[in-house]
Amino acid sequence: MSLTCLISSGGSPGVTTTALGLALTWPGEVLLAECDPMGRRVLPGFMADRLRGSAGSGLLGLAMAAEAQPQARLPLEDYVVPVPGEESVGVLHGVRDPRHGVRLGPLWGRLSEVLVSRRGDVIGDLGRIGGRDTPDDLLRAAQAVVMVLKPTLVQVDVAGPRLDALRDLLGDRTVVGLCLISDGPYSAAEVERVLGMPVMAELPCSPAEARVFSDGARPRRTFKTSLLLRSYNVLGRRIRAAIGSSSMGDDGEVGPVLSGSGAAVRGDQ
Ligand SMILES: Nc1ncnc2c1ncn2[C@@H]1O[C@H](COP(=O)(O)OP(=O)(O)OP(=O)(O)O)[C@@H](O)[C@H]1O
Ligand SMILES: [Mg+2]
Repeated sequence: MSLTCLISSGGSPGVTTTALGLALTWPGEVLLAECDPMGRRVLPGFMADRLRGSAGSGLLGLAMAAEAQPQARLPLEDYVVPVPGEESVGVLHGVRDPRHGVRLGPLWGRLSEVLVSRRGDVIGDLGRIGGRDTPDDLLRAAQAVVMVLKPTLVQVDVAGPRLDALRDLLGDRTVVGLCLISDGPYSAAEVERVLGMPVMAELPCSPAEARVFSDGARPRRTFKTSLLLRSYNVLGRRIRAAIGSSSMGDDGEVGPVLSGSGAAVRGDQ
């Protein structure tokens, strides 16, 4: 139904963590597609202790299937792994070895076709953009592109030319916005003014909660009600509102990680 791509301009501000947090708080069926050519993080992090059975070969397996059958429709669903305890959330895990990134180039165009026609929404983690390996086809196919950054001089400076290039690539047809991880001296208004782009949400700098997503750390008792989780929810609502998504949950209803008793909250008890 919809494709939202999360990107950065480098410096590891928290794209993968935010993409996973967004997916786990998203209402309805959603796929997290780990399309960062520099490699995966979700499988050895969040999924490591949760996975029962094989994770399959993920994005690399899909790329190999695409090479073997250049004309066929991509068998995407064969490579999607459900997040245990979160039935509505699936993961297409990324490549382990960045050297395999070169095999992904021919995949992006075909992958974008199946992602946008998939039942349910898709959140893509594209990682750092601006290099030759950036999946431009996925960016072009997205309804929304959100750059994650910290409000520091270095990150804002680096973001400027990459956002200019993004505007050239996408024109006006795609919603483009910023998501700040509040770990820097500048306000959202200052960042908006300098980059000429709306800040869709500010996420708190919450290292302990973030590690639950990025490293599979055990959640604290307050995890479910934490500001970080509520902020992912706000970001999701704003994205859906901006793209006019028909997904449920725009009336304040929350996604699985907050409403259910699934894997992400198991450590609470
Ligand atoms: N809101 C947050 N508050 C505090 N720490 C965070 C937050 N989001 C992410 N982090 C931390 O930042 C680190 C980097 O996160 P992550 O791997 O998601 O970044 P990234 O932008 O995807 O990096 P890369 O470009 O290397 O893929 C992790 O240790 C993660 O726990
Ligand atoms: Mg990442």
